[in-house]
Amino acid sequence: MSIEAAAEALRRGDLVILPTETVYGLAADAANPLAVAKVYEAKGRPSFNPLIAHVSDVAAAQRIAAFDDRARMLARAFWPGPLTIVAPAREGVSDLARAGLDTVAVRVPAHPLARQLLEAFGGPVVAPSANRSGRPSPTRFQDAVEETGAAAAVALDGGPCEIGLESTVVSLLDEPRLLRPGAVTRREIEALLGPLAEAQADAKRSPGRMSLHYAPNAPVRIDAEAPREGEAYLAFGPSGSPFNLSPAGDLREAAANLFAMLRAADRTNPAAIAVAPIPHEGLGEAVNDRLRRAAGNIG
Ligand code: TXA
Ligand code: MG
Repeated sequence: MSIEAAAEALRRGDLVILPTETVYGLAADAANPLAVAKVYEAKGRPSFNPLIAHVSDVAAAQRIAAFDDRARMLARAFWPGPLTIVAPAREGVSDLARAGLDTVAVRVPAHPLARQLLEAFGGPVVAPSANRSGRPSPTRFQDAVEETGAAAAVALDGGPCEIGLESTVVSLLDEPRLLRPGAVTRREIEALLGPLAEAQADAKRSPGRMSLHYAPNAPVRIDAEAPREGEAYLAFGPSGSPFNLSPAGDLREAAANLFAMLRAADRTNPAAIAVAPIPHEGLGEAVNDRLRRAAGNIG
């Protein structure tokens, strides 16, 4: 398959199996929430965990993330390569890809096919490891195809991955912090930035949950069959409500709409946001997980 076919698939909102030097990724247009929702669905992720945005160079990284001197230093030293930098988000990566956080994880991969695709496509591309949730990351073309190939419109064969371990993830939100060890070592990073703080226990398990931004200002009432007086209603399936997560009752569409629609409903200053019951299968589990968090029903 050609690079141009893969770039075209991304523009259409389709997914691409993408070789990188670390592991195979399942790639989508980072700016297209519906495409991003397909990634979560294909991986069967039980909840939305933020995704890494892949870009072609440091200039492109700085359009989507606010870089300080430390970030520029790391980028100069290790990009292109297996290092992911977490920094405050700017524009261009959808809410869903960031799991509603105001931060973004970004990296410039080194694999020639990944670089060619990023250049042909011209925008940020999210690419989590191409495995189904809970399974090892694929490091061979065939493994990637077996795991999530069915969800991809194009699969690029880059041969075996050189690194075979996911990228090092460093957070630069406060003191530099190692969120995930990888091929760029602690020593190499500390040589530039000084001692690295440890990932907080919670960050290690699931960084997407550390600081929740899911909850709107208005209280959220879930499993609501109908709105009460003064409430905004987020429907699912056929309804006269101005807010509808998916008129067709499609969970992928509902997931893609969720954060934006909670915000839109919130802007009407309702007494509460009531949300229709969402089926719990497939992506519905993730949607319900976020809704329960937004409603404060999770300990
Ligand atoms: O090597 C890699 O990084 C591969 C290849 C395909 O590039 N991708 C990858 O993506 O491993 P994924 O989604 O499997 O892992 C992304 C990691 C997760 O641990 C996620 O929690 C963390 O990065 N992450 C993403 N965005 C974050 C953010 N805003 N803050 C903190 N951690 C974040
Ligand atoms: Mg992974």
